[in-house]
Amino acid sequence: MTPTLSPNHTPEARATPIERAIAHEFPFKHCNRLAEPGFKWNRHQAQVIRQAQVIIDHGGMVVVQGVFGNGKTQIGARFGCQWFKELRRGPSPRYFVSIELLDAHRDSYGEKHESPMVQAESCGLLVLDDLRVPTGKTDHDYEQLNKMLDIRYRSERPTLILTNLGDAGLNSVLGEKTIDRISDGGALIELQGKSMRGVA
Ligand SMILES: Nc1ncnc2c1ncn2[C@@H]1O[C@H](COP(=O)(O)OP(=O)(O)OP(=O)(O)O)[C@@H](O)[C@H]1O
Ligand SMILES: [Mg+2]
Repeated sequence: MTPTLSPNHTPEARATPIERAIAHEFPFKHCNRLAEPGFKWNRHQAQVIRQAQVIIDHGGMVVVQGVFGNGKTQIGARFGCQWFKELRRGPSPRYFVSIELLDAHRDSYGEKHESPMVQAESCGLLVLDDLRVPTGKTDHDYEQLNKMLDIRYRSERPTLILTNLGDAGLNSVLGEKTIDRISDGGALIELQGKSMRGVA
């Protein structure tokens, strides 16, 4: 007789939070780094995590701005893993690189498969990495992105946006309407500190 597994003994339930985050497209390298012996957040990162956690717990939208390499994606991976660690109910968290999300959305036009924008709209926590000024993207693409963020805002689903953009760049990509929504229960947070590349 084939043994049956109870829901608590499925491979998914047995996976660690890091394994589950990786299975939900959170970056492998950054997720695994969290488990490296001696891994420690620097004080700037620890402060941003504390601030962002409060907003995420209340279903708000956080934008973390910072220079190249100072640990934004690392923080995004941490929030994905943390979501699974807390055994939250409801939809899972998802990670998307903004340009890849827009490209995949465009590729889905006229196709039978669902656009990943639908998952971005409805996932439990959205980590949108590397938001940047469009090159080769149309206003329509960015309207789609802002529409998705508006849907999340209205349903109080938490969103973490990671970017190298300063305020002017952010305004040009997100527009005043989305920035105004961020100010409602969310925040723009600057991650201080230099690039960690080559340090670890
Ligand atoms: N506290 C830390 N301890 C050890 N390594 C870290 C820490 N924070 C970040 N790193 C590592 O530093 C490198 C750069 O971090 P990360 O990729 O998160 O930067 P980023 O801000 O996303 O960069 P970019 O702006 O270029 O996307 C990565 O290899 C990451 O794993
Ligand atoms: Mg990054």
